Amino acid sequence: MSGQHTEILSPDQRGISRAAEFLRNGGLVAFPTETVYGLGADARNDRAVAGIFAAKNRPSFNPLIVHVPDLDHAARIAEFSGTARDLAQAFWPGALTLVLPLRADAGIAPLVSAGLDSIAVRVPAHPLARDLLRACGCPLAAPSANPSGGVSPTRSAHVMAGLSGRIDAVLDGGPSAVGVESTIIGLTGAPGLLRPGGIPVEAIEACLGQTLNQEVPVTGTPNAPGQLESHYAPGAGVRLNVTRPDAGALWLGFGPDCADATWNLSPAGDLTEAAANLFGMLRDLDDLAVEGQGIAVAPVPDHGLGRAINDRLRRAAAPRPA
Ligand code: TXA
Ligand code: MG
Repeated sequence: MSGQHTEILSPDQRGISRAAEFLRNGGLVAFPTETVYGLGADARNDRAVAGIFAAKNRPSFNPLIVHVPDLDHAARIAEFSGTARDLAQAFWPGALTLVLPLRADAGIAPLVSAGLDSIAVRVPAHPLARDLLRACGCPLAAPSANPSGGVSPTRSAHVMAGLSGRIDAVLDGGPSAVGVESTIIGLTGAPGLLRPGGIPVEAIEACLGQTLNQEVPVTGTPNAPGQLESHYAPGAGVRLNVTRPDAGALWLGFGPDCADATWNLSPAGDLTEAAANLFGMLRDLDDLAVEGQGIAVAPVPDHGLGRAINDRLRRAAAPRPA
């Protein structure tokens, strides 16, 4: 797909129809969701799904999330227990992904679930994502729309910076409101947290009336990226929990104590605002960084959306593959 022209589609009926046409024909279209931009393909089409891995340069076939317009469509793909229904009803549409037993008659390309007998499903809340799902009439497999290992995109310009020439189109829906990926809950056994994300863990536990297992990724088994593998990584080096940066360092602040910060995730110390700003500010600081200059990040409280923010920051700071 390299070298092709990538169309930027406007957020109107024409843009949606064009995007749906590409998707129905097995193409790749990046589209906005409330969390981050996704790189979508028809989840029933093996070749289209394989194209996602090729465009992202994803080294391994990690399973992908399937996006559907509503719970009814999700229930055609996955087996819903009572608990799964409760969570879906409480948080869909929204930033929650459920990993459930895959239905035998789901019709989903095996590559989507990496051959597992479970499947990750989500009903996104973004109006354009919902319009697109209805217009194309197919479930969309969609990881974040960035080259593998890089910072997730929260604007169409971020998508173009990483994938222009490798995908058919991007549907431009402006900035993603939540800014971090969905929370992933595993429900194939006891409810477990597979990835902290846009819905706070506390809210999910309150709905369930029980605490979540902290899933430990099993080596060799596909799992949400739980290891401290390098991910979400800007080009510049990242250091965490820096309250007094070196003179001349780029400093990503949080809260009112970081008045000198180059950028501040939220001067007021609001975690929702910080999540929305996270990936865009990491990109902006990376653009500002001169050779050898690193990014120092202030401490972020580890509750609510802070769990997801710290998870992404730890991975951005993890040792890079040589
Ligand atoms: O907010 C989001 O979730 C975004 C937007 C585009 O919806 N999507 C996203 O997808 O973050 P992706 O591919 O970057 O992350 C999907 C994660 C993977 O880390 C994968 O390991 C996990 O979901 N996953 C998918 N299917 C799974 C399964 N059957 N069992 C365990 N984990 C699974
Ligand atoms: Mg991703």
